[in-house]
Amino acid sequence: MRKKIVAGNWKMNNDYQEGMTLFSEVVHMVKAEVNSSTEVIVACPYIHLHSFGQMANGRIRLAAQNCHQAEKGAYTGEISVKMIESVGADFVIIGHSERRQYFNETNELLAQKVAIAIKQGLTPIFCIGETQQERESNRHFEVIREQLREGLFHLVKAEFQQVIIAYEPVWAIGTGLTASPGQAQEMHAFIRGEIAGVYNQEVADATSILYGGSCNPKNAPELFAQPDIDGGLIGGASLKARDFTDIAKVFNDRG
Ligand code: 13P
Repeated sequence: MRKKIVAGNWKMNNDYQEGMTLFSEVVHMVKAEVNSSTEVIVACPYIHLHSFGQMANGRIRLAAQNCHQAEKGAYTGEISVKMIESVGADFVIIGHSERRQYFNETNELLAQKVAIAIKQGLTPIFCIGETQQERESNRHFEVIREQLREGLFHLVKAEFQQVIIAYEPVWAIGTGLTASPGQAQEMHAFIRGEIAGVYNQEVADATSILYGGSCNPKNAPELFAQPDIDGGLIGGASLKARDFTDIAKVFNDRG
């Protein structure tokens, strides 16, 4: 069966010392409380990756929150896939709605980021999601299909099998409004169907699809009980070690 994954996206929070304190709490709690069958990932700011790599003890794996689409070169201020790998991270979030919205990242650009991440051995956590307006005008399936087709489906099967998908409805991010388990399940099943259509059912069944958007210890159990929801990408609640660990524990008694 596909992997159960709980990933924390810290976004632009915590200075160096605050980050060290939070991460060491997370390492302790996760080691003591979370079944090893649940993959726990922390996507921290770049400045933390190296130290966290030394502290993670092999239990928690690390992600960057972005990468540049070129291998290297004159791109002042940017960070390459190779640089991220060199400090011990295994994953990179690509296409988060905040990057699409505030940094004008298009599906075309994201396709390039996905391609270089895979080519150089980092696993993309590829985010897709519709806005409130798109859902209200009943265009949510169409938007998700377009994000998948333009951002991911250029990959050949062996490449696509490296990808983790995160469905994060924009209207649920940081708003306290969660998609209902039914709404999330409906979209996750749709995404899996799209994957099956382009690759095959076996590939679709093996792809981990995470839910993100106001996930917390209260709503995670019901969300993660849905058949096509394989875990979560957690924003605000990942900044509290107790809450994040409680979310990561949801799969403990579910085999
Ligand atoms: P919140 O959990 O704060 O809504 O953020 C979700 C998110 O954007 C994770 O990437």
